[in-house]
Amino acid sequence: MDQLAGRTAVVTGASRGLGREITTRLAGAGARVVAIARDPAGLDAAVRSVSGDVTAFPVDLADVDGIAAAVAGLGEVDVLVNAAAVISAPGSKTLESSLADWRAIRDVDLDAPFALISAFVPGMVERRWGRVVNVSACLGRMSGPGTAGGFAPYRVAKAGLNAFTRNLAHELGMGRRGVLVDATCPGHCRTDMGGPDAPRSVEKGADTAIWLACRGGSLSDPPPTGRLWEDRVEVPW
Ligand SMILES: NC(=O)c1ccc[n+]([C@@H]2O[C@H](COP(=O)([O-])OP(=O)(O)OC[C@H]3O[C@@H](n4cnc5c(N)ncnc54)[C@H](OP(=O)(O)O)[C@@H]3O)[C@@H](O)[C@H]2O)c1
Repeated sequence: MDQLAGRTAVVTGASRGLGREITTRLAGAGARVVAIARDPAGLDAAVRSVSGDVTAFPVDLADVDGIAAAVAGLGEVDVLVNAAAVISAPGSKTLESSLADWRAIRDVDLDAPFALISAFVPGMVERRWGRVVNVSACLGRMSGPGTAGGFAPYRVAKAGLNAFTRNLAHELGMGRRGVLVDATCPGHCRTDMGGPDAPRSVEKGADTAIWLACRGGSLSDPPPTGRLWEDRVEVPW
């Protein structure tokens, strides 16, 4: 696996769960990986356990206004995987959520991806090569049980991330400027967020994000992009 040899990838949420697995696999695919999470100690421990060219880069993504300055020195980034997120409490129905809860979830789950995309995607467009993978959630889908009540700040932030993905992909010519922008639902996985009894492994949950980050394609014939993917198959938003 050397699809990403010579490429630089930024992965958020890299200290544990799906982000850590994505970091491991992208490093295995030959990328130089910049691993972002909030807690420096947890991030250092995770990075030490991964082989390959991986650098710990602690950033508090809740400080959205500080993100551009924090990542300004990273240089050219070819792959951005937005995997960091925080989830609302199960009982967070809309009318029981405070504005502070609403904003705290939106900051990390929607506004931070916007800040990171704003920082890195212009360079990808200039160089005519880039991959953006937004790790979304079934809870943010407008179909099926997606936005069916509860977890309100989280569901709405993820629905926003889905809309952001599709909108940006269209703005970038659906791959014809060399940048593929996609979202993925990992399914319910055994992580700190998903809990120990979740049905899916971290490896299975992370697989589609890794596949999207490693996809080939040319400017004249880009692969399908601006889509929502689950287990490497397109699913309705
Ligand atoms: N697990 C599931 O069942 C499931 C289902 C659907 C979707 N997802 C999505 O999959 C992605 C990964 O989830 P996961 O289960 O791996 O989550 P997780 O185990 O809870 O890990 C969350 C990651 O996000 C980072 N993070 C949280 N707040 C941050 C902040 N303010 N600044 C920087 N980093 C921050 C954490 O870093 P620190 O440790 O430093 O805080 C950690 O690395 C998320 O986008 C989630 O919404 C998960």
